[in-house]
Amino acid sequence: MVVGEVRVASLVPPAPVDSLTMTLTAPTTSATISPATSPATSTFPASPRIFSGIQPSGAPHVGNDLGAIRNYVALQDSYEAIYCIVDYHALTSTHDPAVLRERTREMATALLALGLDPDRCTVFVQSHRPETTELAWLFTTVTPVAWLQRTPTYKEKRQSQPEDVNHGLLTYPVLQAADIVLYKASLVPVGKDQAAHLELSREIVRAFNGRYGETFPEPKAVFTDAPVVLGTDGVRKMSKSMGNTIEIFAEPDVIRRQVMGMVTDTQRILRADPGRPEVCNVCQLHRFFGDDYAEIWEGEQTARTGCVDTKKLLVQRILDHYAEPRERYRELMADPGRVDRILEEGAERVRPIARATMDEVHAKMGLR
Ligand code: TYM
Repeated sequence: MVVGEVRVASLVPPAPVDSLTMTLTAPTTSATISPATSPATSTFPASPRIFSGIQPSGAPHVGNDLGAIRNYVALQDSYEAIYCIVDYHALTSTHDPAVLRERTREMATALLALGLDPDRCTVFVQSHRPETTELAWLFTTVTPVAWLQRTPTYKEKRQSQPEDVNHGLLTYPVLQAADIVLYKASLVPVGKDQAAHLELSREIVRAFNGRYGETFPEPKAVFTDAPVVLGTDGVRKMSKSMGNTIEIFAEPDVIRRQVMGMVTDTQRILRADPGRPEVCNVCQLHRFFGDDYAEIWEGEQTARTGCVDTKKLLVQRILDHYAEPRERYRELMADPGRVDRILEEGAERVRPIARATMDEVHAKMGLR
């Protein structure tokens, strides 16, 4: 276990990290973590606060849910949890205002449909609490450019959108650090692809605290037991930009097509060939949609079942698993005023925390 990461809902319970202890309940989603002992300075919240952000890339896919969102849901019961739809970040790639607005609403609706409860956590849109951009600017002054230039996502984006290497892409992780610590959050449920950003957030916090005195806690990533969900190609991480997703709220026919098109064990050529569940992404996904995955794996290993059977079963399980959220998603999409109100209230609720942090930062930096 790497310091700076916490795993919740792991199949293999990890050793406790720092002052956190975990009680794990099978199979995957629930977790209790006893609050950390009070940190040395009084400016930190008494018990750890949760923060996470998600880009408004439309409605989420199975990778978002298994890698992060189910931990958002699990952690809202044990902690003060704040979740944010990061529209400022999305502007680094999405430039159509109508599309951005629509996707922001879709993502907010999806998070609520998947179980975020505005009575138990705060959900808001990043640009509704603009203090984060001021803090990000202040953080740029403690962040060496070289740290940003070597960020893996920046290097990837330079490749994937060479015609649009905007400054926001470079500064992206600074804004992410500001998002988290504006609320003095110290636990951040994310997938493994965010590990480098989290490490950078910790470095930025250390640089700030080193220059201006202990102000922010160092945020730690909290992983699920599916920290990297592979896409339908079975090779790359599931991601909308790679076009290899299984969408949660798409029409059943779309989901069927996405699952039935999945790449399985490429060495299993004939139906009679034994399969290798450990390299077959269909078998891997079965772990999260039923308790009987060992039996399903045995069917593949002995060629009792074929890949098509296993995929058909996965389609059914995914549709069943998300049936209630799909229903809630439909209801909420038909009532956009309700979603807007929840988001507005969310941004208002966290205003005092943001203001208090900025007052402290201004004083420490000699600004006011
Ligand atoms: P984003 O929008 O790409 O993804 C949202 C969350 O889903 C997780 N995730 C996955 N987990 C496992 N397997 C996958 N295939 C997979 N795809 C996505 C991501 O790890 C993430 O947790 N930079 C962030 C947004 C952000 C943020 C923050 C996150 C902005 N500010 C502050 C945490 C804290 C991003 O683009 O996530």
